[in-house]
Order: sequence, then C-alpha cells, then structure tokens
Amino acid sequence: MKNIYSNIFTFNKKILNKTIVNLKKGKLVGLPTETVYGLAGNAYLKRSINAIYKIKKRPNYNPLIVHFLDCKRADKDVILNKDFFKLYKKFSPGPITFILKKKKESKIIPAVSANLNTVAIRFPNQKVIRSILQKIKFPLAMPSANLSSSISPVCAKDVAEEFKNNLRLIIDGGKSKIGIESTVVDLTQKPKILRPGIISSKMINSILKIQMKDRSRSLKIKSPGMLKKHYSPGIPMFLNQKRNSGGGAFIIFGNKFLKNKNYFNLSKKSNLKQAAYNLYKTLRRIKRLRYKRINVMKIPNKGPGIAINDRLKRAAR
Ligand code: TXA
Ligand code: MG
Repeated sequence: MKNIYSNIFTFNKKILNKTIVNLKKGKLVGLPTETVYGLAGNAYLKRSINAIYKIKKRPNYNPLIVHFLDCKRADKDVILNKDFFKLYKKFSPGPITFILKKKKESKIIPAVSANLNTVAIRFPNQKVIRSILQKIKFPLAMPSANLSSSISPVCAKDVAEEFKNNLRLIIDGGKSKIGIESTVVDLTQKPKILRPGIISSKMINSILKIQMKDRSRSLKIKSPGMLKKHYSPGIPMFLNQKRNSGGGAFIIFGNKFLKNKNYFNLSKKSNLKQAAYNLYKTLRRIKRLRYKRINVMKIPNKGPGIAINDRLKRAAR
C-alpha cells in the first residue's frame, strides 16, 4: 500500500536488514509495539541515547525503558529477583515494565536511566519488534514515539506526524493492540506501581500474594518520569463532565448518548479495555479536527479505567 509519508515502511526482509543496520550505527527507528509505538535506539550506544532525548525534547531526568527479547538477555544488565520471575512467567512478553537494579558490569549507557542505579525493562509482545530483537545483540532503549508531553502514537502515521522529517525510518506494524503504555512496577523494594496500565495492581497482587495499592492521586512523584503534565493534546480539557458545556468535543463512554458529531465514544459497550484502546486515537482525532475545548465524562475508576483516568488527569493539566 502506498502512503503519503516517505518515511513509513512496510515490514519485510529488506526493511528488517535496513532497521538493524540503522540501529547498529546509532540511528533511531520508529517501531510498533503492542502498547504504543516506540522510538528505538541502541541502549549500548551513547549517541543513540543522546539522539532520543534530543528529538523528543525530553528532559534528561526522565529515564527510558530498555526492551529485551527475553529474560536470558536481560540477565546481563539487571539483577533479576524472585518477584520479577513470578510476574515475568505470567505476563511477559506483554504490557508490563519492571524496575530493577542495574548490574555493575551492565553496558547500558547511564543516561538511559538518568544516571539512576536502576533500569526499567520490558519484553514487548509484537511480532515486528520481536523479530528485530531476535536479530540484534543489544537491547533497545525505547520511549513512546512522541514529542515530550504530547499524545502517545498508536500507529505509524501518528509517529510521522510527531517527528515529521526528523525521523527517517518508521516501520508500519499496524495499530497497537492495547493502545496505552505498559504498567510500570518497581521491584527494587516492596513492589509499587509507578504507572498504571492494562495489567492492574489486582492482577499483580494475585501473583505475588501481596496487597499493593494503586498509585494514589496524592502520592508524590516517585518515578522521575511521572511528569504531571503528559499525554496532552494541547487543548483545554475538562474531566468528569455531565454534559458538553461550553461546546467543543465531548468524550463519552457507554450507550446513553444520542448521535452527535461532537461526541466521541470511547466504548459504546462500556468496555474499559476498548476505551483504553480508543483513548489516544480519539484525542489525536479531536486535535486534528481543531476543537478548542474537550469535555470528558466520568470514566469508571476500576480495572483499565484506573490507567485511563491516570492519563486523562495528566492530559488535562
Ligand atoms: O508501553 C510502553 O512502556 C512504551 C512502549 C514503547 O514500550 N514505552 C513508554 O516509554 O511508555 P516512556 O519513555 O514513554 O515511559 C517510560 C516510563 C516513564 O514514566 C519513566 O519515568 C519510567 O518509565 N521509568 C523509566 N526508567 C525508570 C527507572 N529507572 N525508575 C523509575 N521509572 C522509570
Ligand atoms: Mg511516553
């Protein structure tokens, strides 16, 4: 299929090789994952890491997630513990990121984790990125492929829209199946959720047999990257609205509303997983349509709803 973006490529053997050559050389590549699209660079190469922070305009105190094929490869760089193995067995590869202690002999560039002695690691579950990880001897530092504080991308076109011609290679892997970023869980001490996601605290608790709570609203920012303003469409946003006051776009949920061109339904079936999948797509659509105000109705704060409300709150700041 031809597209209007000269930097988006369909995945095939030739493009796989081109991707590998680029990553080895320290160039950045936009890659699909099951959560959101990522901006990938060689985690063992300083110039790749510098380039990631630069093109995203990301503050250097906000660390990156390192992506591995499997735990055998991650073992070279981080200290894997018991809690990790229990969760890994159940949820990886998949939408969960583990914060672990870095090994002294690790080759991961310190700037990847903002000079902390910990590293965030994830094992993505998407066939394009897995076939790339399979073929390279270094892990991929990979934040979401958006400008800092902007909306995360869920398809190749979104990535192209974010970086324009500053990114020469984006691999099209279709729409991200999950649509919001991975759950981030700190396992360096008593397990703690730093960023809620589709894998909930409840699911983690049942595996680890603990009673960890969800990150509460008032909790101070523990992860340097838990920036308060994030995922922002750059339009004033109002949460927990009962009606579309002031006009503009109205993000709704469930089947209680009549059809209206200004209404954007996250899930007619009131399915929170589907709502998470539609969230960034919807925000980006509203932005493209140049609305001046966004009202959002109350979204149930349970299961995936916890992650949705976390993103909405920060998008609305
Ligand atoms: O689903 C995802 O996780 C996507 C895809 C591309 O894998 N990636 C992603 O990366 O969302 P990013 O950079 O947008 O978010 C990484 C989050 C940030 O909140 C950051 O602060 C946190 O992970 N993080 C990274 N390393 C950390 C560390 N050592 N300690 C605490 N938090 C860390
Ligand atoms: Mg991000």
